[in-house]
Amino acid sequence: MSRYWSKVVAGLTPYVPGEQPKLPNLIKLNTNENPYGPSPRALAALRGEVGDTLRLYPDPNCDALKQSIAAFYQLNPAQVFIGNGSDEVLAHSFLALLKHDEPLLFPDITYSFYPVYCGLYGIEYRQVPLTESLEIRVDDYLQPNGGIIFPNPNAPTGRPLALAEIERLLRANAGSVVVVDEAYVDFGAESAVGLIARYPQLLVVHTLSKSRALAGLRVGYALGDAGLIEALNRVKDSFNSYPLGRFAIAGAAAAIDDRAYFEQICAKVIASRARLVSKLAALGMEVLPSAANFVFARHGQHSGAALAASLRERGIIVRHFKNPPRIEPFLRITVGSDAQCDALIAALSDILA
Ligand SMILES: Cc1ncc(COP(=O)(O)O)c(C=O)c1O
Repeated sequence: MSRYWSKVVAGLTPYVPGEQPKLPNLIKLNTNENPYGPSPRALAALRGEVGDTLRLYPDPNCDALKQSIAAFYQLNPAQVFIGNGSDEVLAHSFLALLKHDEPLLFPDITYSFYPVYCGLYGIEYRQVPLTESLEIRVDDYLQPNGGIIFPNPNAPTGRPLALAEIERLLRANAGSVVVVDEAYVDFGAESAVGLIARYPQLLVVHTLSKSRALAGLRVGYALGDAGLIEALNRVKDSFNSYPLGRFAIAGAAAAIDDRAYFEQICAKVIASRARLVSKLAALGMEVLPSAANFVFARHGQHSGAALAASLRERGIIVRHFKNPPRIEPFLRITVGSDAQCDALIAALSDILA
């Protein structure tokens, strides 16, 4: 705290990202990156950007990338907004669409950046408890609100919400924006993108960090009615007109265009998840049903903190949340390659023995 700080900064509680370790050789299963590399076509497009044109600003509207994304989802480019990682897209959504007089609703156990954006932008919010089995129950959201946001599948639980339930929520909630954060949807949940044409209050947010294996490039996007997208553009052009550089625009467009590679690596992660879940269960761990590229698992006899620390001693990092207390026993484990999952299982069986 310094006397030069603004009141706003003094009052912030910033998000704490998962560790990006400087030590080599750690098995990194803590931030839900993809174990496979980006599409070879994306890498070639990135190399193609190295040159004299870097002296010029990039396209502020990312038109070429918008075209690719719109074509992928059979939408119109005016229904696409692009940002520097989906975190930036979410931040703009909070300011543009979710800041109203009534409180914003989101689950009590969810992506922990949501309350941070509320703190930054002065947004009132109410956390809606997940059920006993750590599921989102739509009926709990049928109350006055200034907006609703949740990930599908939810993080860090990995549990999906059925599309019919999302549509039931949209039908009952026409007066405020519903943001579905589909960061992990490509690993097995049902996307709400197909509902955009019928529900002008629906915004669906995606990232290239997980299913396109491009966390290092920082690209995310939102899909929704052109009126919602226009609100996001107004915030973007009041903040940073050029959120994506030339590398990000070119690499992301090539990654979206390479549908075959995307489908292939998603299928591999899904197969590895099934294998990991059965091995964790064989060690006596309880694993929540996951539609994401991570699993949420606990062991009845050990605290989550102790398990995470023992794994770290063995060179494996996973994510552990101290709060709220009912998720303390859980570890959030990224689905790595089969070799990485096997190393995790070997370390866990050693710890549990
Ligand atoms: C639910 C959820 N939404 C959004 C993000 C942000 O992703 P990015 O900013 O890399 O696009 C994450 C990252 O882990 C996440 O878990």
